[in-house]
Amino acid sequence: MARVALVTGGTRGIGASVSTALKAAGYSVAANYAGNDEAAAKFTEETGIPAYKSSVADYDACAAGVAKVEDELGPIDVLVNNAGITRDAPFHKMTPDQWKEVIDTNLSGVFNMTHPVWPGMRERKFGRIITISSINGQKGQFAQANYAASKAGDLGFTKTLAQEGARFGITANAVCPGYIATEMVMAVPEKVREAIIGQIPAGRLGEPEEIARCVVFLAADNSEFINGSTISANGGQYFV
Ligand code: CAA
Repeated sequence: MARVALVTGGTRGIGASVSTALKAAGYSVAANYAGNDEAAAKFTEETGIPAYKSSVADYDACAAGVAKVEDELGPIDVLVNNAGITRDAPFHKMTPDQWKEVIDTNLSGVFNMTHPVWPGMRERKFGRIITISSINGQKGQFAQANYAASKAGDLGFTKTLAQEGARFGITANAVCPGYIATEMVMAVPEKVREAIIGQIPAGRLGEPEEIARCVVFLAADNSEFINGSTISANGGQYFV
């Protein structure tokens, strides 16, 4: 039986690439998405990967979404916490809503999705929790107090679950993408984006596939001894 993988925010951007790479590696994949029905339908049509709608920011919806995937595909072996949003503003202009929306999705969303899959993984003595953090969770970023805090929080979460899950065959790891050519990065004003590219030794944005291959590596059965780690994939922009 193929292992089952659930990818949040799995129909667009980095998540879409992760979903298709896991499918190509032999996983039975479910792609979660929050709101863009049109993009999700197109993704399913092109890839054959089923899409499941629910917001990671809503705990009850996550529990129901996980139950639905498990009913239809089987117990979830691999959870990829990829869903994320930005609400960039310099701190003096950042509103409480901008803070809350980002924390609710990027940080609480990781709790909300991992909590319902965790007991089953412990029982079955196997699990892979892979969380997409960010270079900006490692180094901070102008206008991203909310996003950087959420992504740094994801790293603390990951390191803790690595310790709690290890004796149950569960690993928790993070991937920290740098600036990847997705809608999120293309939404940054062009002048700012060009300045950022100037800070990347590789001289270019990354490709979503370059993140997906990290996820496939961490998801593998024989990656069990890699636990609590962070893979940085940022073209040399930042070293921890
Ligand atoms: N470093 C230093 N100064 C910066 C800066 C930076 N990175 N970006 C902007 N500034 C400066 C501006 O030059 C401007 O200075 P002046 O007042 O002297 O002109 C000031 O900060 C910004 O003032 P504004 O009032 O014009 O700012 P704004 O309210 O219009 O906001 C912004 C503009 C939201 C900050 C916009 O510049 C922006 O989106 N910046 C990009 C932030 C960013 O990098 N986000 C990453 C998104 S991609 C991602 O998050 C994916 C991932 O994981 C990597």
